[in-house]
Amino acid sequence: MEEALVLQEDTAGVVRLTLNRPRALNALNSELLGELDAALAALEARGDLRAVLITGAGDKAFVAGADIAEMRDKTPDQARRFAVNALATLKRLERLPVPVVALVNGYCLGGGCELALACDWAVAGDNAVFGQPEVGLGVIPGFGGTQRLPRRVGPAMALDLITTGRRIDAAEALRIGLVNRVVPREELETLVDELTGQLGANGPQAVRAAKQAVHDGMNQPLDSALALETSLFALGFAGTEQHEGMSAFVEKRPARFGDAG
Ligand code: COA
Repeated sequence: MEEALVLQEDTAGVVRLTLNRPRALNALNSELLGELDAALAALEARGDLRAVLITGAGDKAFVAGADIAEMRDKTPDQARRFAVNALATLKRLERLPVPVVALVNGYCLGGGCELALACDWAVAGDNAVFGQPEVGLGVIPGFGGTQRLPRRVGPAMALDLITTGRRIDAAEALRIGLVNRVVPREELETLVDELTGQLGANGPQAVRAAKQAVHDGMNQPLDSALALETSLFALGFAGTEQHEGMSAFVEKRPARFGDAG
């Protein structure tokens, strides 16, 4: 039987997705993107989902880009369809109701960098290498890079990376805000355990509401975004989660939260 291109591990609702094409450095072909899309569709319906961590198989790459061999002979119409499908999958990842974290364990180039940008935030091993090398292949980024990269690191740095196609190391990625944390590569697994514990321990409805407030608020003027925050804050007092969290503090015991519903 052929091995799945997207592997899943579930630790109490914190789901780790591993993109599994290590011989091609986990390059994103249509088949892998299709499996990722199906996996995300199943996850978005789960009330017990706490967080998603996404990484690449093997010790060399997160994702080394969209699959160049598959793209080489595409017509403009086929290229458009390829990009539209990939964008829909990355949108699905971005819009999951829980935090989505990229665990960047090596090359993170082209479509790989765009995948990391569709995550809420990223952590990296110190062997990670980032870049948008598409112009060297005679194209521009097509999985959201020209839009999400400037929103993450600012337009000047995004254009520096996109128009030169240069690669940057993990330290520079940290400095420009492309990733949140960098650890020695051998400590990435320890960080994963830490994140799994932290992301799984907090009030699940509160974590979802926090993500909604930030994502939806960023697309609105400040006043309406603040009104959204107030609504979501107040709504938090409607269920049992807020009372349990605050009671646990007052009673000096750990909180026992249920699922988000
Ligand atoms: N698409 C398709 N196949 C890819 C790929 C991609 N984006 N990136 C790597 N691969 C394949 C290689 O073709 C090679 O396959 P082969 O063993 O059948 O020849 C295999 O993965 C290993 O890659 P290789 O180039 O031999 O490894 P390396 O350590 O010498 O170099 C990279 C690693 C990441 C620097 C190099 O693979 C690379 O530049 N990849 C393309 C990066 C890119 O331009 N991405 C943007 C695409 S839009």
